[in-house]
Amino acid sequence: MSIHILAIESSCDETAASVISDGKVVNNIIATQDIHEKYGGVVPELASRVHQQNIVPVVTEALKQANINISDVNAVAFTRGPGLLGSLLVGVSFAKGLSLARNIPMIEVNHMQAHILAHFIDDPKPEFPFICLTVSGGHTQLVLVREFLDMEIIGQTKDDAVGEAFDKAAKIMGLPYPGGPLIDKYAKEGDPEKYSFPPAEIPGLDFSFSGIKTAILYFLRDELKGNPEFINENLNDICAGIQQSLINMLMDKLRKAVKQTGINRVALAGGVSANSGLRSALTSEAERKGWQTFIPAFEYCTDNAGMIAMAAWYKYQANEFVDLSVSAEPRLKF
Ligand code: KG4
Ligand code: ZN
Repeated sequence: MSIHILAIESSCDETAASVISDGKVVNNIIATQDIHEKYGGVVPELASRVHQQNIVPVVTEALKQANINISDVNAVAFTRGPGLLGSLLVGVSFAKGLSLARNIPMIEVNHMQAHILAHFIDDPKPEFPFICLTVSGGHTQLVLVREFLDMEIIGQTKDDAVGEAFDKAAKIMGLPYPGGPLIDKYAKEGDPEKYSFPPAEIPGLDFSFSGIKTAILYFLRDELKGNPEFINENLNDICAGIQQSLINMLMDKLRKAVKQTGINRVALAGGVSANSGLRSALTSEAERKGWQTFIPAFEYCTDNAGMIAMAAWYKYQANEFVDLSVSAEPRLKF
């Protein structure tokens, strides 16, 4: 008999569900919330409300595509944190309801660990230990991954996440939310050397991205005084310069992490790993230095439930279940 786990992700603004059967992710259903675009960022109350509307249809679709009934589900997994409280609560409450109704165990998943475990959905899978640079809208972490559920943060941002820096830079330029993918798009046509922004000098393996946002703001303010059309006329080059400066900061710390740990298996995870500039910077650095690199498929870079399902599979095998007293944890650590 097959083991089916239903996994739910609702930490931010994607309502997602996935079924994993005997360790194989069968599907990855995502309902993205477009409503936040007009507010220029995720509005927590709206996100929670839209999760409530989406969760049943998304789960129904995941079960349908997996060709199973709710009665075939052996365990239900959910993102416990980190994330927005009101968003997380929808997934946690749904899982509790299903666990009670069907008398099946519950598995809690750390969203950041799940981003890393997305590497085990498809081949090639990294061998342990490896270094993972997890870059998302809420986090920037260098993680030493020793085993599926044994990870240590060896560096992280002191302030903004790199995804946030992309999104804020885009917002300053008047681009819609989320601006990261747009900066990526315009940067492809631009000259990355024309405008550059100085990196933050942070010791060790930690990062800081709040300074670059201010540097961009002042740079554009000064240029716009001389030419009100400055952004429109130079959008590609500005985007290329911003992207390159952010990538340089990430690559600099990644190089340090490899040097410090002596581990040259390097993986990317999280929404910003969809960035084409970062992907190619890592690939060419790896060629130069002889690193082995792992970059997830696009559908498993940004928030998804396939990665929650994958993490849940390892926890299921380790008998790591939780009871109904579990609560959402917006600042969950690992
Ligand atoms: O992992 P994710 O989907 O959600 C969080 O857990 O935060 O990451 C979302 C972040 C956003 O900041 C978005 O702008 C950024 O990932 N992002 C990108 C790209 N695609 C998504 N940033 C730069 N280039 C991209 N292609
Ligand atoms: Zn995420």
